[in-house]
Amino acid sequence: MKILAIESSCDETAAAVVEDGRRVISSIVASQVEEHRLYGGVVPEIASRRHAEAIVPVVSQALEQAKLSLSEIDAIAVTHAPGLIGALLVGVNFAKGLSLSSGIPLVPTHHLRSHIASNYISNPTLEPPFMCLVASGGHSHIVLVEDYTKMKIIGRTRDDAAGEAFDKAARTMGMPYPGGIELDKVAEGGDPLAFKLPRPVVHDAPYDFSFSGLKTAVINLLHNAAQKGEELDKRDVCASFRYAVVDCLSTNFIKAAEDHNMKKLVIAGGVSANSLLRKTLSEESKKRGMDFYMPEKHLCGDNAAMVGSQGYYEFLSGNIAGADLNAYATMSIE
Ligand code: KG4
Ligand code: ZN
Repeated sequence: MKILAIESSCDETAAAVVEDGRRVISSIVASQVEEHRLYGGVVPEIASRRHAEAIVPVVSQALEQAKLSLSEIDAIAVTHAPGLIGALLVGVNFAKGLSLSSGIPLVPTHHLRSHIASNYISNPTLEPPFMCLVASGGHSHIVLVEDYTKMKIIGRTRDDAAGEAFDKAARTMGMPYPGGIELDKVAEGGDPLAFKLPRPVVHDAPYDFSFSGLKTAVINLLHNAAQKGEELDKRDVCASFRYAVVDCLSTNFIKAAEDHNMKKLVIAGGVSANSLLRKTLSEESKKRGMDFYMPEKHLCGDNAAMVGSQGYYEFLSGNIAGADLNAYATMSIE
């Protein structure tokens, strides 16, 4: 079964063709990041306009690259939540029009479920149930994936998402948006023990995260040094901050898996590209005799191949929408 997938929830316009949820036939991603970088973050109005300009060429290219015509497509999957509402509406309305004019069924797909599904592409033998850490620019969840379309949130952030904390710390150090990627690179040359940073815990909620205090601690560290005219080694600051975030993420995640007797660990979302997170969880899972899965780096960020994968399982579970499909800025993964 061939699915044409469309993604426009944030600042990437993407389309892909995926067969049977696992084989990517084509995948096109048009990123707007250069333009948003000028403003230090995503400007929703600009994002919507760029999606409207890019959607036709991106979908056409995905079909061209797959050497398929629309008539050979079995379903159209589209991200309908969560995300920037104006951005989501571009993809949703385009997909609705395409479905209505062609008679091809329309499959609404949740953005975070799709991030999880990127793992089905990178790890062909992976099947639920498993415990998944989903960490992106807007969300940080620990999710028990009971089945392809049945999920339970075990833990979540109480304030900032992990990606957001990375981006804000990076911005304070003058790195361009989205700074998480750059911070990860700079951290490679630093000492993770150079600065002592807090490991915030949420009382009575051992699987929940809190990153805002950690973010403030690193911002204070930088500001205090600047006021004293001291120059801190950026590599050490980045390494210490990255270590603290990864420590919080992996400690709670492993605890959640152990407490739920889950031997399969999976990571997803933009932050799953983080080198230390990948390394730490590979090592910690091995020590405990657990299996660890992660998406290939090019599938960690927003793309439509993952939408095509999740869309396949949504279709099989009967999740098919009509012309009244709407977009939603927020929606639980459950
Ligand atoms: O999943 P994603 O592409 O978009 C959302 O759905 O939010 O996640 C983007 C987030 C950004 O905050 C970005 O800085 C972060 O993922 N990110 C990273 C790395 N690569 C991307 N954070 C830490 N280390 C990385 N290597
Ligand atoms: Zn995303």
